[in-house]
Amino acid sequence: MRPGRSGRWNRERPAGVNGPPDMNNPPVVSGPSEVCAEAPGRVNLLGEHTDYNEGFVLPMPLGQVTRVFAARAEGMVEAYAEIFDERLVLELGRPREGTWLDYIAGCVWALAQEGIEVPGARFRIQRGVPPGAGLASSAALEIAVLRALRTLYEIPLDDLRLALIAHRAEVEYVGVRCGVMDQVVASLGRAGQALFLDARSLQHEWVPIPAGYRFVVVDSGVPRRLAEAGYNRRRAECEEAAARLGVRALRDLTPGDLERIALLPEPLGRRVRHVVTEDARVLAGVEALRSGDVRTFGRLMIESHRSLREDYEVSTVELDRLVALAVENGALGARLTGAGFGGSVVALVAEANFEAFVSSTLSQR
Ligand code: GLA
Repeated sequence: MRPGRSGRWNRERPAGVNGPPDMNNPPVVSGPSEVCAEAPGRVNLLGEHTDYNEGFVLPMPLGQVTRVFAARAEGMVEAYAEIFDERLVLELGRPREGTWLDYIAGCVWALAQEGIEVPGARFRIQRGVPPGAGLASSAALEIAVLRALRTLYEIPLDDLRLALIAHRAEVEYVGVRCGVMDQVVASLGRAGQALFLDARSLQHEWVPIPAGYRFVVVDSGVPRRLAEAGYNRRRAECEEAAARLGVRALRDLTPGDLERIALLPEPLGRRVRHVVTEDARVLAGVEALRSGDVRTFGRLMIESHRSLREDYEVSTVELDRLVALAVENGALGARLTGAGFGGSVVALVAEANFEAFVSSTLSQR
């Protein structure tokens, strides 16, 4: 059950609690008085809007991390976010109201749903992953919070289960119907490697980036617009198309099905064509990375962007412009990354061209 006004948690901001909490005097029960944990943002290299269709994705963790300091507490979750200079408190047993604290309280709630009761905690949050840039800042926050709670309360949780609990928090508590990609890569990602994930079986492997090349993220500076509504609409379209085609999920189709897919009413046909061809691009992209064929990988990125723009219709004028600019400035490939509707693009660039690429792209952006 998703906790709404009848749920177990509530946001409460008593008068005068703005500002950092006194971390030297927390109501500590036992064990470590304060722990520090962090988790990275992510950039997705290929495989957009495929995870909730039970398909394939290829994200990579970023160097930017969200860090949390946590201490034990009783009966409440309290957090101070440096980025907002705001401190919020939730008492156990009260309904939630819808603030950034939901991402943290949702983790405690999701643990409880899994039979792991945490009595409470206080947090100080340093958000190094910028929100709204399409770099999965909320997954970074959730994974950092759960890692901190795991250490604080000595909870036996492996990294994959931790990711699934974070996902449950976001879907069932916060109410965003996202796929599993962001939480899984924030939890399992390894620096400098892409994570090839099957979003149905959750089988995964790490794929190294060929030497001499870099993936560069360029933030369009335009925050995502109407992203949640657009995202949910795309999900609903995919579900409707899967039902019409008689498959459990769009993952069960292949490029061999494109003829019957074309018989669907629009825009469903184009939506499915994106998902089916994008899954195929991830499989081809993994092979290309493994064999060091960066040119093929770059071409797949450009095709992915075209498909996201024309078939899935989640790009924007600014993102299209940035992708074109990146290619003009020598990138082997570029595409929007994340859900779209704003946010960032990712480009594949030769190490030797890196400095020139960054300075010319930033000056023309
Ligand atoms: C968001 C969601 C992910 C995924 C991407 C699009 O980042 O959180 O689960 O669906 O959009 O690929």
